[in-house]
Amino acid sequence: MQTEQYNSKNDLTAIMVIFGGTGDLTHRKLMPALYNLVHDKLIPEHFAVVSIGRRDKTTEEYNDEIFEALQIYSRNKISESCWRKLRERIHYYQFDFTKQQGYEDLKIFLEELDKKMHTGGNRIYYLAVAPEYFETIVQGLHVSKLSQNAKGWNRLIIEKPFGKDLATARKLNDKLIEVFDEKSIYRIDHYLGKEMIQNIMVLRFCNSVFESLWSNKFIDNVQISLNEKHGVGSRGGYYENSGAMRDMVQNHILQILSLVAMEPPVNLKTDSIRTEKLKVIQAIEELTPEALRDHIVFGQYGKGMIDGALVPGYRQEEKVPPDSATETFAALKLYINNFRWAGTPFYIRTGKRLGAKSAEIVIQFKSLPNVLYFKDRHIQEPNLLVIRIQPHVGVFFQFNTKDFSSHHEIMPVKMEASHINDSLGNTPEAYERLLFDILRGDATLFSRWDEVEAAWMVADKIIAYREQKRFSFPNYAAGTMGPIRAFELLAKDGREWWNI
Ligand SMILES: NC(=O)c1ccc[n+]([C@@H]2O[C@H](COP(=O)([O-])OP(=O)(O)OC[C@H]3O[C@@H](n4cnc5c(N)ncnc54)[C@H](OP(=O)(O)O)[C@@H]3O)[C@@H](O)[C@H]2O)c1
Repeated sequence: MQTEQYNSKNDLTAIMVIFGGTGDLTHRKLMPALYNLVHDKLIPEHFAVVSIGRRDKTTEEYNDEIFEALQIYSRNKISESCWRKLRERIHYYQFDFTKQQGYEDLKIFLEELDKKMHTGGNRIYYLAVAPEYFETIVQGLHVSKLSQNAKGWNRLIIEKPFGKDLATARKLNDKLIEVFDEKSIYRIDHYLGKEMIQNIMVLRFCNSVFESLWSNKFIDNVQISLNEKHGVGSRGGYYENSGAMRDMVQNHILQILSLVAMEPPVNLKTDSIRTEKLKVIQAIEELTPEALRDHIVFGQYGKGMIDGALVPGYRQEEKVPPDSATETFAALKLYINNFRWAGTPFYIRTGKRLGAKSAEIVIQFKSLPNVLYFKDRHIQEPNLLVIRIQPHVGVFFQFNTKDFSSHHEIMPVKMEASHINDSLGNTPEAYERLLFDILRGDATLFSRWDEVEAAWMVADKIIAYREQKRFSFPNYAAGTMGPIRAFELLAKDGREWWNI
């Protein structure tokens, strides 16, 4: 994808300031991503990391902890020379970001580091902290003028969740936009950093065989499934305020849906792509009370068996109240009311503690009339294009052919694109791609504010419906593929979920 703001070599130099440097995200994702960028020679020479936390430790001690985390979470083995290159760039900085004086001191520290590391005054402020602190930190950066640092560019990176609903998201955005302009705000949706998500556009716009059939005329339905085997574990407190709609649908799933359904952009520039994605979300058909009742299924897991072991139900998880009404599963049927897609259902399914872990998109093409080959006992299998996002990464296409071992039989065969699969493995992690893009100023894989806003408009209505109804939870056992109603949702339309 195209870079818009990357103009000179100097643009790639920067200090990355991580608020939340002692936290889980930094240890599991950010530092391993930085290490792998060093490994792949994508980190510029003039680059430094300042990790902020309240815990009392020296840079030496901090780096020892990071080294241990890298052994567990890095996709590449840790080599001494690469680790040295990263280690000498990382500085631990202890400060409580709720105290304004700390920002003044940080400013002096960063200016000195700039001189030492020749980082050209460019700054990445990465907020790897709980969302309730986003505003405090941005305000601290503003008052201390760290956000207006005129020597170079200043970019703000925001982790999800971006608001709890439309109102809180707008309030947060208003606060951010007072300090950083929209082009400098990078809202992370790590799904967009995944290789196969980026491949959706390539598959569509580089293959006439797919793009010419990519509409309601030839596609029967589209299925997007993000299924997880794990439960909420120790994150029950966070999940209670989130649920599947806020955690997965409002962001990841609607972003994927928009890439699958958008019109070809006029070029590959960031805003051209984001504008087409936005139009898809805006075209999602308004959910009437009947549609909310008939096209939406919520679920919550009870206890059950996962991989041969008994696991507790959601209400028995840590920090979850015994009468919790939070959904751990959602299935939706949506229509996109535009010329290309009117009438073609998009089925969405996501949940925790399901029987299979998979993230995939299935495009089911319309079947041919049963007048020649499929008249009597033959069942026609439809053509399917399956885009596998994780854990397996790849694409396959299903089509019908004659079974050469019999006279009459017709059988479906699967053509696998195995050039990117587990055996080759080790494809870059989403955060590597995203951090590299932040560094070079390419915001294509980040959500623009109007996309986030439009997605909340869709999600809010569905969440409000869930909150006003009292569902009988739990309604699916851990280890199954969700509530029975999720199967009925498709069965009513004469369809089924594809578990490929
Ligand atoms: N973890 C994930 O896999 C993941 C995935 C997606 C999104 N996210 C998002 O990423 C963000 C961070 O999540 P996390 O799991 O990394 O959280 P976490 O483990 O709880 O870390 C929180 C960090 O904030 C710091 N902190 C809190 N209050 C502070 C203060 N007053 N002054 C200075 N530092 C303070 C903590 O430092 P001290 O403990 O040293 O005080 C710690 O480094 C959240 O918005 C979360 O929703 C996380």
